[in-house]
Amino acid sequence: MYSQGLIGADTATKETAEFLAEFQARIDAEEKIEPNDPMPQAYRNTLIRMIGQHAHSEIVGMLPEGNWITRAPSLRRKVALLAKVQDEGGHGLYLYSAAETLGVSREQMTEELLSGKAKYSSIFNYPTPTWADIGAIGWLVDGAAIMNQVPLCRCSYGPYARAMIRVCKEESFHQRQGYELMKSLTEGNEDQKAMAQDALNRWWWPSLMMFGPPDSDSQHSDQSMKWKIKRFSNDELRQKFVDATVPQAELIGLTMPDPDLKWNNSLNNGAGGYDFGEIDWDEFWRVVKGHGMMNKDRIRARKKAWEDGAWVREASLAYAAKQKANAA
Ligand code: 3HC
Repeated sequence: MYSQGLIGADTATKETAEFLAEFQARIDAEEKIEPNDPMPQAYRNTLIRMIGQHAHSEIVGMLPEGNWITRAPSLRRKVALLAKVQDEGGHGLYLYSAAETLGVSREQMTEELLSGKAKYSSIFNYPTPTWADIGAIGWLVDGAAIMNQVPLCRCSYGPYARAMIRVCKEESFHQRQGYELMKSLTEGNEDQKAMAQDALNRWWWPSLMMFGPPDSDSQHSDQSMKWKIKRFSNDELRQKFVDATVPQAELIGLTMPDPDLKWNNSLNNGAGGYDFGEIDWDEFWRVVKGHGMMNKDRIRARKKAWEDGAWVREASLAYAAKQKANAA
């Protein structure tokens, strides 16, 4: 999709005060920064970190749901779930391509994931023991992803912003299929309703953690907002997500697992919003540091896929080399 010609290239820039001021002026004028444009090394590194983490999250995120493809309760549900998991694989590929335009290779990004140097979203380290988890993931996890990712369509880096447009359209379908699945369960028998409520209880707080640490602990937010990579802070997006999701739960008769949740007229500059309880940040950091319920399984699965796929990569490279030699 994009040029990969910059992989391994010398992209160093002379970061004089004048250069940095000119770069910031382009950002302030809402110009898009493109792969061949000079950019500060820190801007490049921030994007590599963030897009790489995002790509890994999409690929690792296929695992908890892939777990249910063979056990979906009907053909309709199986088709929707297959399409969703396949979409996530596609998102990972666009995002790896977008990161490659910054000079990093996919091999390098994968090695960093497998060694634990690169992160992926905390949310994918929770298990999916029941069918209702598939509904909760679509509704809440993809719902949170949309809240975070729609502003990324206006990110200052062109390839990331453009990749996010299609990703967000597909995430929107994912969110709806999840909510519709949850709605069906709440219209079913008592066991089905209880299964939906149980899944909401388990996924609600981890979904709020997806937005990242509170603004006071977010190392990168200020600079990323100055560069217009991020358009809203972690706490702003989390608040928007709570305000949008609570009425959806009420509509299908589910209860949020938060006794401190209550409407507050003074939030959002007087428009109103929900106060919510304290997030367990110790749990968040435990999961981010690799000690969540499923961290080891997720990395083991990625490692196996990378090793099992080695012959495909080798064969593709050998084929490309042969084609090139024939053409020459
Ligand atoms: N899981 C794991 N690590 C997280 C995290 C999370 N939910 N939230 C924050 N972190 C990490 C950050 O990466 C950073 O660590 P690092 O310096 O080693 O990279 C540290 O915690 C401090 O956080 P900051 O707030 O300073 O970091 P950012 O400014 O980068 O904000 C973010 C974090 C909001 C996740 C931002 O990077 C972002 O918007 N990324 C793009 C979107 C993305 O990656 N989404 C992941 C979900 S994927 C997905 O939604 C798939 C879909 O199919 C459902």
